[in-house]
Amino acid sequence: MFHVACGFVAHGNKGDFMSMPKVTVVGAGFVGATAAQRIVEKDLADVVLIDIVEGLPQGKALDMMESAPVEGFFSKILGTNRYEDTAGSDVIVITAGLARKPGMSRDDLLFRNAEIVGGIVTECAKYSPDAVIVMVTNPLDVMTWLAQKKSGFPAERVIGMAGELDSARYSYFIAEKLGCKPSDVRAMVLGGHGDQMVPVPEHTKVNGKPVTQLMDAATIEAINRRTRDGGAEIVKLLKTGSAYYAPSSSAVKMVRAILRDTGETIPSCVYLKGPYGLNGVYCGVPAKLGKGGLKEVVEIQLTDGERAELHRSAQDVLRNFEKLKL
Ligand code: NAI
Ligand code: 2OP
Repeated sequence: MFHVACGFVAHGNKGDFMSMPKVTVVGAGFVGATAAQRIVEKDLADVVLIDIVEGLPQGKALDMMESAPVEGFFSKILGTNRYEDTAGSDVIVITAGLARKPGMSRDDLLFRNAEIVGGIVTECAKYSPDAVIVMVTNPLDVMTWLAQKKSGFPAERVIGMAGELDSARYSYFIAEKLGCKPSDVRAMVLGGHGDQMVPVPEHTKVNGKPVTQLMDAATIEAINRRTRDGGAEIVKLLKTGSAYYAPSSSAVKMVRAILRDTGETIPSCVYLKGPYGLNGVYCGVPAKLGKGGLKEVVEIQLTDGERAELHRSAQDVLRNFEKLKL
């Protein structure tokens, strides 16, 4: 009789998550499911995918597990509606919430998502008190701040994803214009994730050369504008939803940096206590990420104009956060 040694345990069994790090993804919608898929396909961690809709995370998790023999990954993914299953997570990625619909104001979205995210964070913090939270839900900067307040975690362990996405879009638009590889461009976008974000061309490099030496000011300004409108451009094309491929890539890059303790600099929404002259506000800046979340804020030289724009953007985050009256 043959005995086949196999570390692969059937989907949904408890006690599966022994050797790999554990990542919970809250929200099994477009961003959440795609992020989960990227994490398991890269074998970064075992994943718990949780959603309020019954069957949705279970169905997507099973479907992903059935791709394992084809893709060749060995990480596991569990779909669930129970927070007990998220216990002991190393990283929690929160993508649950509503997208803005016609007739809904920005404030409507703010209050509805604050309610959803607040409840989720309380549950997650109860079961994974040592986790790092990576927020994705919009409005991003305010939701990140809210998650820090609701979890009671040190600010270093609550960070938001937006700067990497905005910078990736900026990189892509530049590469498209110059006809170079997107990976040759390393762009830098600071500030909140909204109309007030701050592209920084002087710190945007193509194979090490500032983009300001490769394009005229008018072309750069047009790309800055397209980057600020990057989310809306996708919504206009998709009509019924927002972007998720680049957002999930960006969130997973942050997850990888945290799990592997890479210390790499990734534009992220973090709590600022002094750098850039900003104190007591969550805002997007370059940050070294690793084990435990934020390791260090990286301060780059800004022009007076860029600094003023960054402060305006931070003021906007503060104004919206204050509306929540926490
Ligand atoms: P989606 O609608 O596809 O998915 C949201 C999921 O959240 C749904 O499956 C829904 O059932 C779930 N959900 C709602 N309430 C829940 C609760 N209380 N507990 C657990 N799950 C719950 O939306 P999508 O496209 O995945 O976007 C998710 C969020 O991410 C939105 O707020 C969107 O604006 C934001 N986003 C942020 C980006 C950024 O750069 N920070 C980029 C792209 C999206
Ligand atoms: C984006 O920038 C909707 O925030 C989302 O695509």
